[in-house]
Amino acid sequence: MRPKVFVSRIIPEAGLNLIREVCEAEIWPEVMPPPYEVVAEKVKTVDGLLSTLNDRIDAPLIAGAGTQLKVISQMAVGYDNIDAKAAQTRGIVVGNTPGVLTDATADLAFALLLASARRIVEGVEYIRAGKWRTWEPKALLGGDLSGATLGIIGLGRIGEAVARRASGFNMQILAYSPSKNSEDVSRLGIELTSLDTLLSKSDYISIHVPLNAQTRGMINAESLRKMKASAILINTARGPIIDQQALYEAVKAGVIGGAALDVTNPEPMAFDDPLLSLSNVIVVPHIGSASQHTRDKMATMAAENLIAGIYGKPLPNQVII
Ligand code: NAP
Ligand code: GLV
Repeated sequence: MRPKVFVSRIIPEAGLNLIREVCEAEIWPEVMPPPYEVVAEKVKTVDGLLSTLNDRIDAPLIAGAGTQLKVISQMAVGYDNIDAKAAQTRGIVVGNTPGVLTDATADLAFALLLASARRIVEGVEYIRAGKWRTWEPKALLGGDLSGATLGIIGLGRIGEAVARRASGFNMQILAYSPSKNSEDVSRLGIELTSLDTLLSKSDYISIHVPLNAQTRGMINAESLRKMKASAILINTARGPIIDQQALYEAVKAGVIGGAALDVTNPEPMAFDDPLLSLSNVIVVPHIGSASQHTRDKMATMAAENLIAGIYGKPLPNQVII
């Protein structure tokens, strides 16, 4: 009998085809993710679960899984929605999709940096509002990238890829990433600093840490006060790393210059969230990895992890905790 799997969303065909070749796959057909209770029910009978970051795979759900469940394969690099320790305790392996989305996510972080520095969204809105009457010497003035300082919080795969882009734009690059040492990063022209130094010296700050107990709320009212009044904060990591209410108050009061967010807390952001009322805040709907090619590669990698786990083979990309 073919192994049974539950795939919690319609993922790109590149991955689905691999899965269908060897598994009896049930694929959740709707645009909205399955409710928690549905996933909790499915894991009672399937051998493998392919999840996305929308699925809350917590300890009770894992405890309720059947003994046949061997693998949880997440189609994302971040796996903060999964209690990986609880899975490990049950002998269930967890996979994720690192590396294949690094460039796409770094591109998006840099797109947000450029868009907020040069006020692109405001410019589009200006035209739509019928305000463009002439070339204006003092309208929509933004900040330069060349010569400015970029602070990167979390110098892993994506943080480093952002640094490479910033280097091409002639930016000074600071990074806070405690496990790195200067020899590792000096070849990239990056200076390692404390978080406080990064916050106070950077013109642009880009967040690339995973969400965990140490990074939740890492950017709060106190850290925002340490930033330059002109600083722009970019987050393509996870929403809860920033205290969003504190961010709103800081931008509104001019404590910092603006923000650009691909990730929010919660997701989706409420339609009437006060951050959306600020012209110097850009919010996009968690599209960091959303290029066709990248999503194909993520789906393929997630399928390969799923299939390996079902057959008790080493996962091409296993989450190690
Ligand atoms: P990664 O290679 O693991 O990089 C994360 C880096 O953060 C590591 O260097 C890590 O250091 C560092 N770090 C961990 N805790 C820290 C802390 N408390 N303070 C400072 N640095 C810390 O991961 P990645 O592939 O670059 O992905 C990073 C995150 O981006 C993911 O976890 C995910 O949440 C997010 N992401 C979002 C999108 C999107 O669509 N917006 C797409 C992809 C990824 P160590 O080496 O010591 O662990
Ligand atoms: C997306 O947010 C990811 O973690 O891959």
